[in-house]
Amino acid sequence: MNWHPSVVTVWTVLYFDPGLYFVEACYINVLIYLGLFTCLSFILAGVSLPAPVNVSIDSLNMEHTLNFLPGLGTSADAHFRVQILRFRNSWKPVAGCLELAATQTCNLTGEFTETLQQYQARVQAFTPTQESNWTLTGHFTPYTDTVLGPPKVSVSGCGNCLLLQVSPPTSGSIQQNKQLQNLYSGLLCVVRRTRDGAQFSLNLAYEEEILIRYLQPGVEYCVTVTVTATINSNSMPTEPHCAFTGPPASSSGTQLFMHTNIHLYPITYMNTALCEGGS
Ligand SMILES: *[C@@H]1O[C@H](CO)[C@@H](O)[C@H](O)[C@H]1NC(C)=O
Ligand SMILES: *[C@@H]1O[C@H](CO)[C@@H](O)[C@H](O)[C@H]1NC(C)=O
Repeated sequence: MNWHPSVVTVWTVLYFDPGLYFVEACYINVLIYLGLFTCLSFILAGVSLPAPVNVSIDSLNMEHTLNFLPGLGTSADAHFRVQILRFRNSWKPVAGCLELAATQTCNLTGEFTETLQQYQARVQAFTPTQESNWTLTGHFTPYTDTVLGPPKVSVSGCGNCLLLQVSPPTSGSIQQNKQLQNLYSGLLCVVRRTRDGAQFSLNLAYEEEILIRYLQPGVEYCVTVTVTATINSNSMPTEPHCAFTGPPASSSGTQLFMHTNIHLYPITYMNTALCEGGS
């Protein structure tokens, strides 16, 4: 008869416990008169919060963010902690993400410092008395998995040509910009003549200044630029940037001369065709 009140207590606790799994575990324990104590301590210190869901690493331009949602039925007072794993090392807590609220994200930019290293992250919900299982992300390698957003581009006319100024898209840290510039290997430029939509594309080595030559003077073109990288195929193109090449009567000779360190690229036959076909 001594145990009867305790059983009632257990059921009270269990009733408010969202993890149904433990209701069963403890019910069985009580039934077989085995370790009511074990059962209670399991509830108090055990894994009984729902594990976080939709755990993912979102990475744009080498800025890495861990996102998650609380599992269904997670109590409102729960917090979340994040750990990361460097390939072949052990799990380590992330200093800025030891006690996140359900609406917060975890900035992993400063954690994933080695660009070709394979990482993983995991999230756990906890309250003062309970914690959830960990939920893991997939494997993540900064250089291959980050999304390369559209670069910053400005386009100006230079007679029978267009001059493109290209730079990394981030307003982020110097470190991030440097990493991006090392990752970039090329630029894909799609040049489209506004008047009739005729277009051609150029695959160029990555440079901060690009000269697109042999265009028609006094004509508007729109250029879309995509950064390319040999080990990353998650590139996003810019919006079209439009400009007139220059006035129909050209003063292009002197302008060209001013950009001395510009690389001149061989122009495809399509380009030539455009120029000839136009006038
Ligand atoms: C994330 O951390 C990096 C440095 O570790 C910082 O440059 C960046 O601004 C942070 N991003 C946000 C959204 O706080
Ligand atoms: C926690 O993980 C264990 C072992 O993987 C599993 O058996 C158990 O069902 C999980 N608990 C919850 C609440 O998800």
